[in-house]
Amino acid sequence: MAMRYNAIMKGLILAGGYGKRLRPLTYSIPKQLVPIANRPIISYVVDQIRSAGISEIGVIISPHTGTQIKEVLKNESDLQFTFILQREPLGLAHAVMIARDYLGDEPFLMYLGDNLIGEPISQLIRDFDPKKEDGLILLKEVDDPRMFGVAITDERGEVVGLVEKPEEPPSKLALVGVYLFNTQIHSAIDRLKPSSRGEFEITDAITTLIKQGRKIRSKILSGWWLDTGKKDDLLAANRIILSRYHQHRIEGKVDTKTRVEGEVTIDSGTRIIASHLRGPLVIGKGCEIASSHIGPYTAIGNSCRIINSNIVESVIMEGARVESIPSLSHSIIGRKARVVKGEGEGMQLLIGDDASILL
Ligand code: TTP
Repeated sequence: MAMRYNAIMKGLILAGGYGKRLRPLTYSIPKQLVPIANRPIISYVVDQIRSAGISEIGVIISPHTGTQIKEVLKNESDLQFTFILQREPLGLAHAVMIARDYLGDEPFLMYLGDNLIGEPISQLIRDFDPKKEDGLILLKEVDDPRMFGVAITDERGEVVGLVEKPEEPPSKLALVGVYLFNTQIHSAIDRLKPSSRGEFEITDAITTLIKQGRKIRSKILSGWWLDTGKKDDLLAANRIILSRYHQHRIEGKVDTKTRVEGEVTIDSGTRIIASHLRGPLVIGKGCEIASSHIGPYTAIGNSCRIINSNIVESVIMEGARVESIPSLSHSIIGRKARVVKGEGEGMQLLIGDDASILL
């Protein structure tokens, strides 16, 4: 019932961008659709927004990835999505700029489509009073904030300054990709100039508001936060999601020579033969797995074939094949990729652009 009192009715998910740091995966799949525990990252973002009582969601998409994002969000039919095309990823503030008509004169939630956080945002949204404050941003204390936007706050939690990726961070408080704004942000964005990296930065827009004496409050997130922009972050997200929310469910066929330990999901049409499965582990539909040790903290997408191999802490995407590989760990294998040890001498590689192999 409390949801009725939300001041915020609209959300804006940023699902454009290049995702350069996740190449080569992002040559064919938008970063926001990379699977974590076999679900696209954006689905976790949508879950959060839905449970905060928001059902109208604008989604920023790019020309090369928009179709795939739309296709995935078709499954969330209880929500009203409006897709907004951003021709070039000119920055987070640029995304708000092009969503101006959609957002109208209402306060809104902005959520980066590749950020995952470990606690509900509903309280944050209920706490925001757009008549008394102009923004509310979520912060997280991190050991090394140099790669993030960093906030300086006063004793009441009001934001007094922001710096983007500082070499010498003024605090350990990094900006999490969840922001609440009233309409003042639009006038700050209207006056914005591109930064030295050529982007319209949301941190610059917030700084403008602070300089005008507007009130930007912060809240420090106590749960976990993952920005899934890089490989290791993605594997960390997979590990956390699998360990916290996973359930035991076996729909596929597991033969009597297979040992299953811990929480394991095996979807329909999958066959497991003479293997050792250690949860948390999730295996999609239509896979064939034989004579292998798999898990923990591993997600295997649909239609994969894994024979005579050992895999831990990895994400194996749809249609991939892994054969005769004795130890694969902390790896992400893209869709339909093959990792196979052949009979001949030496390695025989066919590696796509920007791939990385650590032996
Ligand atoms: P970033 O991770 O900052 O940018 P990126 O996706 O371009 O990644 P990379 O640096 O690896 O190239 O973006 C955060 C989120 O915001 C992400 O979900 C993409 C989205 N985004 C937009 O929708 N439009 C934009 O103009 C930018 C810069 C990002």
